[in-house]
Amino acid sequence: MTTAESHGLEITGLTKKLGENTVVKGISLSVRRGELVCLLGPSGCGKTTTLRMIGGFLQPDGGRIAIDGRDVTELPPERRPTAMVFQNYALWPHMTVYKNVAYGLRLRKLAKSEIDDRVAAALKMVNLDQKANRHPGALSGGEQQRVALARAIVLEPALLLLDEPLSNLDAKLRVGVREEIREIQQRLSITTVFVTHDQDEALSVADRIAVMSSGDIEQYSDPDDLYRHPESRFVAGFVGAMNIFEGRVTTGGVLVGAEDAFLPCAEGVLSGLRAEAGNLELAVRLEDVSVAPASSGGPSGGAGRVVRQVPHGHFKEVLIELGKQASLRAYVDPDVDLSGPVAVTVRRLLAYRDGELVYSSHARDQAGRRSEAAAARVESAR
Ligand SMILES: Nc1ncnc2c1ncn2[C@@H]1O[C@H](COP(=O)(O)OP(=O)(O)OP(=O)(O)O)[C@@H](O)[C@H]1O
Ligand SMILES: [Mg+2]
Repeated sequence: MTTAESHGLEITGLTKKLGENTVVKGISLSVRRGELVCLLGPSGCGKTTTLRMIGGFLQPDGGRIAIDGRDVTELPPERRPTAMVFQNYALWPHMTVYKNVAYGLRLRKLAKSEIDDRVAAALKMVNLDQKANRHPGALSGGEQQRVALARAIVLEPALLLLDEPLSNLDAKLRVGVREEIREIQQRLSITTVFVTHDQDEALSVADRIAVMSSGDIEQYSDPDDLYRHPESRFVAGFVGAMNIFEGRVTTGGVLVGAEDAFLPCAEGVLSGLRAEAGNLELAVRLEDVSVAPASSGGPSGGAGRVVRQVPHGHFKEVLIELGKQASLRAYVDPDVDLSGPVAVTVRRLLAYRDGELVYSSHARDQAGRRSEAAAARVESAR
């Protein structure tokens, strides 16, 4: 039964074995109505397999799938309120844009006038109403991608499934088309699952992101939370640029780089970390490092030397040598001259032991807020 409170999509304990491997390992995920959720993870982590199960193209070995409160686990694709845009967008080359988009509606045997109206509206939405009579071969990659999107949207699905919808586009077009997808998705308020291996894409389009690794969900958070509070070493390394060190805490500070250098931490950063004995992995965002000429009388910090500078227009990325085997990357103001000795201060860090977050120098993190994914894992293990 559909209720006002039901989710747009609710997955519980979804499992799939392919060949010898369990490629989806009992994942649970709730997507609110109208929300865009990204499944983000490296190649082979089970994103497409998960999406195909949601769309009904692959039968799960265990678990349930509900859309708008209705269990669809046993239904074939054509009886689910879903539309899927496949990675290679699979347009029919011999059909015009109009016919490609009308195809699904004709299968549903709708009246010609209704098909015409809905196709026209969908093409207008993706800005292709002027190209309805072209064949896909006479369209750019971005235009073909938008036809694939129109073909899905025209079905008015309750749930839109997008598998790497931008992977065949060049860098500039990717940004343009992803903004269009987001805009249309929000305007129509379609619940959407968007698969990508590109963390930048996920951070920029998603309401929430489920980071997957080896068939499991590592963390399920909004983009800001995911970036600021990665709950596992895997997420810390996968989402956003990060310095990662192996090290341990001593009375002198945090020893890193085969123990030949100290991380130059601000005092507040270190205070809570002193309790953590043994080997740790330390993670520091590039914008959480202050770098200033040592002579400037600015904030005191560890001494370092800038060995590489990479300009990025309005900022630059620098590589700072801390010891023979330790260096630190940082974002700095492009106008500051860092050719001489520099003072370096780490203003914030995260520490992981055995892959799990054990310390964050930000007070908010220390409350140990568990992600919904972690809570769901605990729940499904019961
Ligand atoms: N038919 C199959 N038989 C056996 N193993 C399979 C089969 N299809 C996929 N796999 C394996 O399942 C795992 C998950 O595949 P899946 O296609 O879901 O990954 P993905 O996250 O979508 O990766 P990508 O980013 O490369 O598209 C992979 O290790 C893959 O090799
Ligand atoms: Mg895939």
